Amino acid sequence: MAHGLQIRDEQSGYNKNLFCIPKHYEEDLERVFIPHGLILDRTERLARDIMQDMGSHDIVALCVLKGGYKFFADLLDHIKALNQNGDKSVPITVDFVRIKSYCNDSPTGKISFVGEELSTLNGKNVLVVEDIIETGRTMKALLSKIKDKKPRMVKVVSLLVKRTCQSPGYRPDYIGFEIPDKFVVGYALDYNEYFRDLNHICILKENAKEKYRMS
Ligand code: HPA
Ligand code: MG
Repeated sequence: MAHGLQIRDEQSGYNKNLFCIPKHYEEDLERVFIPHGLILDRTERLARDIMQDMGSHDIVALCVLKGGYKFFADLLDHIKALNQNGDKSVPITVDFVRIKSYCNDSPTGKISFVGEELSTLNGKNVLVVEDIIETGRTMKALLSKIKDKKPRMVKVVSLLVKRTCQSPGYRPDYIGFEIPDKFVVGYALDYNEYFRDLNHICILKENAKEKYRMS
């Protein structure tokens, strides 16, 4: 079974004043939870593990938008580096699916897919790249759509997995970090579209949830 880097419930991260934070978000963030550099280091190792398992056949990397775009871009940079420096290499193509299931800091209960056709997945090794898995509900819905296209293999990598009591136990094949049940933003993870332009993964202050709340 896959294990990510464990961030325990009592770990609160780092003093934000020791890092560079965009001025417009300074008042909104509690702590730096996962610094950008650590995200990149863990991503480099995930790339190696993924290529060991999937690198013997053409790969389609499927980015789950919008939250997955930073992780996707950095992960693919590492995968490309392996692909040009190793003894073996395989063609990698990319595809995108956009999913929205959150409003404010809660799931809306409906999952909307936008703009996917996914016919490129037939017969390929498909790597689904996701930012965060909480209940696994969204991922299960997406996987059933993908399997209809008869891929050769499907693996899921998620940068973050939240430890929640409501989790029905879905676990991706590769996990970057396992985190406590707190709402996090940054590195393309958003709160109502804000905070994607923040490099580090941070914990949001309660008053920031009010400030950026959608009615
Ligand atoms: N942050 C941002 N988006 C999310 C989260 C989170 O903690 N959980 C599910 N989607
Ligand atoms: Mg989101």
